[in-house]
Amino acid sequence: MPLEKTGDILRHAYTQGYGVAAFNIFNYETIHLAIQEAENQQKPVIIGFYPVWQSYISLDVVSAITHACAKTVGIPVGLHLDHCDDFAVITKAMQIGFSSVMYDGSHLPFDENVKNTQNVVKAAHALGIDVEAELGAVGDASNIEDFADRDKFTTVEQAIEFYEKTNCNSLAVAVGNAHGNYIQEPTLDLPRIEAISKALNIPLVLHGGSGIPDDQVQEAVKRGIAKMNVATEYHHAYYLAVKEYMQVSNTTNMYNCANDTQTSIREFLACKINLLHP
Ligand code: 13P
Repeated sequence: MPLEKTGDILRHAYTQGYGVAAFNIFNYETIHLAIQEAENQQKPVIIGFYPVWQSYISLDVVSAITHACAKTVGIPVGLHLDHCDDFAVITKAMQIGFSSVMYDGSHLPFDENVKNTQNVVKAAHALGIDVEAELGAVGDASNIEDFADRDKFTTVEQAIEFYEKTNCNSLAVAVGNAHGNYIQEPTLDLPRIEAISKALNIPLVLHGGSGIPDDQVQEAVKRGIAKMNVATEYHHAYYLAVKEYMQVSNTTNMYNCANDTQTSIREFLACKINLLHP
């Protein structure tokens, strides 16, 4: 199938009460395996790309591979530019086939985040492209304060004002989550997710999806999370599969390695995809 509008994928998930896994990718394998396993599970999937990784793989190549892989399957696939505050990069992604972009102004003062998000929304909506914005600070999971300090969480009042002013399509919220390996088990603020969802009635996004206990993820989906981003755990699963294969098979053949590790990487992907369908 051709790529689907990310907004359509997320709206369906949000109204039907499930979530969509968004996997951060960096090469052909990570794109191909995520799409193939989503097809195997007959569930939608979103391919997410960090623009800071353009020095390794360009936006054009990510777009070309994702479009080509999506054409071979029958499930909805979205292509999303993750965490970007560079208007030129956002514009380029929109021109070359990304189906959604994230403008991340969460590090800025509220009014500046609003103003910049408004500009991106205006340009994106003119092209029929959806925009994810972020409010509150989703920090680093290696720093307890980044995910345990409630002063950094998204507030319902600010979320309402932000959404009314920006008309973004989805909102990444800070609710006890953070990026990377958590140094202590996180505790999501589930009532806060529910309150923001009820107030905004738009799909909410959970960043830092690696390492959040399954029961919390499932409860978060029931309360309004429609997309969960996973990077760290995906890359770790990939690494472990390659490491174990190399140790056991005692080979240096990289084709055999790429081919033979697919099953175990796909097992990880299947778990994450299905976790969001409580
Ligand atoms: P993790 O690396 O913690 O899975 O976070 C990914 C993410 O939120 C991408 O936006």
